[in-house]
Amino acid sequence: MSNKNLFDLSGKVALVTGASRGIGEAIAHLLAAHGAHVITSSRKLEDCEAVCSAIRDAGGSAEAIACHIGDMQQISDIFTTIKEKHGKLDILVNNAAANPYFGHILDTDLGAFQKTVDVNIRGYFFMSAEAGKIMRKAGGGSIINVASVNGVVPGHMQGIYSVTKAAVISMTKAFAKECAGLNIRVNALLPGLTETKFASALTGNPAIMKQALTHIPMNRSASPDEMAGTVLYLASNAASYTTGTCINVDGGYLTV
Ligand SMILES: NC(=O)c1ccc[n+]([C@@H]2O[C@H](COP(=O)([O-])OP(=O)(O)OC[C@H]3O[C@@H](n4cnc5c(N)ncnc54)[C@H](OP(=O)(O)O)[C@@H]3O)[C@@H](O)[C@H]2O)c1
Repeated sequence: MSNKNLFDLSGKVALVTGASRGIGEAIAHLLAAHGAHVITSSRKLEDCEAVCSAIRDAGGSAEAIACHIGDMQQISDIFTTIKEKHGKLDILVNNAAANPYFGHILDTDLGAFQKTVDVNIRGYFFMSAEAGKIMRKAGGGSIINVASVNGVVPGHMQGIYSVTKAAVISMTKAFAKECAGLNIRVNALLPGLTETKFASALTGNPAIMKQALTHIPMNRSASPDEMAGTVLYLASNAASYTTGTCINVDGGYLTV
């Protein structure tokens, strides 16, 4: 392969969870722009279909399949559909996550705890396991987990969410180690503060933003597009010797 084609994903099938908006939408667009057939997924099919339309308008290839990653049956169903339709999956981007609770860690209620764990840990784990089985059969693949800088430094009043993101970092390394011999690479992106609906409680509040920016050397939040390039790199042949790695894309947040 020539150096020029290191990022070419032609012929690859990629599944991106949480692709209806925000970081997942940006990732779906970039992978499609580099030739992948992208399966966009989230709980709301219509929203994913809108993203697919935009991808197709830009000359790419995409389809939408709904999946609530906190529901084990829906996880099983999406992989049955992918196997039937495509017979393979080259790239999985575990991006959809839940953060239902903002408050003191001592007051975390069981419902919020369970939802966060079911989506962010159990969901990521079994999405990876199911995708990994398809990749094992096909001789390889690439899994990218969207974790968070909060998995390294817990976010203020975001205790259980941060705990699950630390688990995603650990999960990335555990899957990477056991799947390396199967030619399946497993890596993580750790976004810093990014302007999406998810972060709007922070980015939409000038007082909180002023305080948050004092911890970000680049002195700004990111746009979702600024997260996608790292995922493209990790999905592509440019990262053929990279596994078990966590890449911070955080404006320098974790350096201070
Ligand atoms: N924004 C930040 O500052 C930031 C920082 C660090 C890490 N992250 C991480 O980046 C990832 C994407 O976040 P974002 O900021 O792009 O959020 P976002 O704009 O709110 O998008 C979240 C996406 O996930 C989907 N989703 C939510 N719950 C789901 C579930 N149970 N099953 C399937 N899909 C689900 C949503 O669609 P539906 O509602 O249709 O399901 C949507 O497509 C997350 O893993 C988050 O932890 C974000």
